[in-house]
Amino acid sequence: MRVLLSLPIAALGLVGSTVAYPYGETEAVLRQEPSTNQAKADAVKEAFQHAWDGYMKYAFPHDELTPVSNGHADSRNGWGASAVDALSTAVIMGKADVVNIILEHVAKIDFSKTSDTVSLFETTIRYLAGMLSGYDLLQGPASDLVNNQKLIDELLTQSKNLADVLKFAFDTPSGVPYNNLNITSKGNDGATTNGLAVTGTLVLEWTRLSDLTGNDEYAKLGQKAESYLLDPQPSSGEPFPGLVGSSINIGDGQFADGSVSWNGGDDSFYEYLIKMYVYDPKRFSTYKDRWVLAAESTIKHLASHPQPRSDLTFLSSYNNGNYDLSSQHLTCFDGGSFILGGTVLDRQDFIDFGLQLVDGCEATYNSTLTKIGPDSWGWDPKKVPSDQKDFYERAGFYISSGAYVLRPEVIESFYYAHRVTGKEIYRDWVWNAFVAINETCRTDSGFAAVSNVNKANGGSKYDNQESFLFAEVMKYSYLAHSEDAAWQVQRGSKNSFVFNTEAHPIRIASD
Ligand SMILES: *[C@@H]1O[C@H](CO)[C@@H](O)[C@H](O)[C@H]1NC(C)=O
Ligand SMILES: *[C@@H]1O[C@H](CO)[C@@H](O)[C@H](O)[C@H]1NC(C)=O
Ligand SMILES: *[C@@H]1O[C@H](CO)[C@@H](O)[C@H](O)[C@H]1NC(C)=O
Repeated sequence: MRVLLSLPIAALGLVGSTVAYPYGETEAVLRQEPSTNQAKADAVKEAFQHAWDGYMKYAFPHDELTPVSNGHADSRNGWGASAVDALSTAVIMGKADVVNIILEHVAKIDFSKTSDTVSLFETTIRYLAGMLSGYDLLQGPASDLVNNQKLIDELLTQSKNLADVLKFAFDTPSGVPYNNLNITSKGNDGATTNGLAVTGTLVLEWTRLSDLTGNDEYAKLGQKAESYLLDPQPSSGEPFPGLVGSSINIGDGQFADGSVSWNGGDDSFYEYLIKMYVYDPKRFSTYKDRWVLAAESTIKHLASHPQPRSDLTFLSSYNNGNYDLSSQHLTCFDGGSFILGGTVLDRQDFIDFGLQLVDGCEATYNSTLTKIGPDSWGWDPKKVPSDQKDFYERAGFYISSGAYVLRPEVIESFYYAHRVTGKEIYRDWVWNAFVAINETCRTDSGFAAVSNVNKANGGSKYDNQESFLFAEVMKYSYLAHSEDAAWQVQRGSKNSFVFNTEAHPIRIASD
């Protein structure tokens, strides 16, 4: 998933220093590295099962496991976020027992009840997409996994129930939705603007729901909100062709600023422009045209090379004549987006640029002590922290936040690079990242976020395991090493599925 502007862990505090490293170094050295892709895929399955078992033992049906204290938390309205987010991965891994538990849970969720604020964006990308993807997979290429058709149908019924609870969010003068909702009072947080990514990362899920139910009201809501992003007004909201500001007035759909980036808060708006075209090239060619403009402007205006490492490419951001030389783990979906757009549109220049971005993201991983990349970094020569001068000269960047919160974007882009080029090096990078995460973040019950990827054992562990560990990290790591299948990313225009921003494969419209 993309978009988080602030780390979810801020309030949780450090707990890690008392936690033992899961295994000693001798053991790590003696352990036999799997050598075949099948053995590696199996090792990812083992890690998924480890986290699933811990979640079942200590947290289900709450939203997530607290992997250090072996307790539970409800950060996503208490509807069982980890279970719903794990569904499409469990289907792809062929874990029928896990899939059945999740399906029985989904059928029981009451989406009309929660005591917390509901995020339209988070609920759409995790719950709605998780259920729609499960439906698309189990009705399609994974139809032999479950024989209870009633439970499969419940996925679509519950998707509709959830959207019916949420749809009042779009009832604004412009149709640009509120993001933070009180579903009991049908209220909102009183915001006057909505963010670019949270507005522009709904259209795939809400369109898919309409296409599956035959009721076009959901698609219309998502596409109406998106219409302001495709035709940005006023012109100050589009400083470079295709690259737009970061917030939109809910009152009239006008852009409130011209601050441009591919970072959290903006990210998945760009991601979905090209993915809508993959979903249905006939209906969404305008979205593709907007992505092409954005991609060309990005290469021209945002590509940036650190002074000490001119071989590396990162994306800067731009506001009012100034460039900010910093980036984020979240931003590393960018390589995958360029590679997907490049292969679908037969534009080798986009693929090549995507591979440069992938190299840059790999550099953030392989330069640290744990071989996991930091949450954010910079390369502004004027801002290098004095204690990171050597690191900056060698690595080409300095670490602004050294946390790793189980994010998937780097592995995700390696996966696209491998699928589209066929080159083994990118699969090796997926494996290296997975092994490092398994070594650094694993606890007795699951996987924990860590405080500093450039310290031994990742510094301290946070008592937090986001549901996207199941949906994304495990899925992309597994897919990179598993056989070709209908749900895998394909070269050119051969895709049967397109992944939402939470890595839930959605079946394409014309398939
Ligand atoms: C939502 O609104 C109801 C009814 O006005 C109120 O009781 C409840 O506290 C609100 N919930 C949140 C999360 O603000
Ligand atoms: C580290 O990253 C750089 C930049 O992508 C790459 O050229 C190099 O091969 C990587 N090193 C290893 C050991 O994979
Ligand atoms: C992941 O960690 C577990 C626990 O230490 C270990 O048994 C397993 O072999 C590791 N997997 C890989 C691929 O390193």
